[in-house]
Amino acid sequence: MEFSDRVKSLPPYIFVELSKKKKQAIKEGRKIIDLGIGDPDKPTPEKILNFIKEATVKPENHQYPIGRGSKIFINSIIEWMKKRFNVTVEENEILVLIGAKDGITHLPLAFVNPGDIVLIPDPGYPGYVSGTLLAGGKPYFMPLLKENNFLPDLKSIPEEIYKKTKIMWLNYPNNPTSAIATYEFYNEAIKYAKKYNFIIAQDAPYCDIYFEKPPISILEIKDGRDNVIEFFSLSKTYNMTGWRVGYAVGGEKIIDGLATVKENMDSGTVSAIQEAAANTLKYCDKEVEEIRQLYKKRAIMCYNGLKNLDYNVIEPKATLYIWSEVPKGFSSMQFATKVLDECDVVLTPGIGFGPSGDKYFRISLTVDDDIMNTAIERLKKLKK
Ligand SMILES: Cc1ncc(COP(=O)(O)O)c(C=O)c1O
Repeated sequence: MEFSDRVKSLPPYIFVELSKKKKQAIKEGRKIIDLGIGDPDKPTPEKILNFIKEATVKPENHQYPIGRGSKIFINSIIEWMKKRFNVTVEENEILVLIGAKDGITHLPLAFVNPGDIVLIPDPGYPGYVSGTLLAGGKPYFMPLLKENNFLPDLKSIPEEIYKKTKIMWLNYPNNPTSAIATYEFYNEAIKYAKKYNFIIAQDAPYCDIYFEKPPISILEIKDGRDNVIEFFSLSKTYNMTGWRVGYAVGGEKIIDGLATVKENMDSGTVSAIQEAAANTLKYCDKEVEEIRQLYKKRAIMCYNGLKNLDYNVIEPKATLYIWSEVPKGFSSMQFATKVLDECDVVLTPGIGFGPSGDKYFRISLTVDDDIMNTAIERLKKLKK
């Protein structure tokens, strides 16, 4: 049986060898520390679990979810957008998702025809590429360089590329670089989007995991709404990756397009989870603050630990990740392999996020302090 050309167009899983080595090491009984996975180690807070329990026993939550999101969740998103960003949004500018990934991978199906271009940050979350390829689109990579504060250089993209562009992906706070975008940058990006008539899809699942000033929403930019969609998620902010809930907010036409694809693909997010998510956005500011402080403490510890070992580490501003340069003379895959072989520590090689990531590795801050300290101790022994 042959896979479709669409599926065959997807990039191969580049961590095959590294995964094999990790499995083998575990089989040999080596005590592996995995700093690769970006999945919160702490459980969903008790208060949210209680919201979920209360919502699951209600019979009205046992039937198909309604339309683009339940009334209670949509209203809570409207309130949250006002509270968090001082942005006013209407019901028809919101779509509830089965996690941000659901919206990210389906958006191109609504707007991209075969051969159309999608601008994708490099390094970037792999879902931007896979969604584009499944829709028959062509990825055009925008390098995120340290000298540009990991923002794409919008002026360097050729006019003939812009003319064929349907979507530009942005992701701030950024996975993996932890960079944050400015008002000026978003404003500039929207000018291009208006001039060449494309969508800016800004992916914001880390908007509440920040270490200094709260990051802004692209929806705060005046008169940008018609060209913009922003993706939010409860996954990382509330330790809820397993519950699969997020939402998109943006221009009505863009939301319509994505909703049409989804109406034909799935039947929505579990109603009980939507009800619990509504209460979470309303009543869990204290829980978010605790989670934010936990990652901040971990980020500072890991950053200082690597700095003391003379790594060129990027100062963390947000997210669950530390982004650091690999030592001179190594590719990111060579370095990650050496660290696994010699230190029994799993890091993510930057190449997994795109070609511009190859000078870097990513560490996930999803382990307790003693485990992180042990990992840093082990790195001390590495012959660079
Ligand atoms: C940048 C980025 N976008 C989207 C997602 C997916 O989030 P969700 O769990 O809401 O699908 C992730 C998950 O790691 C991510 O890092």
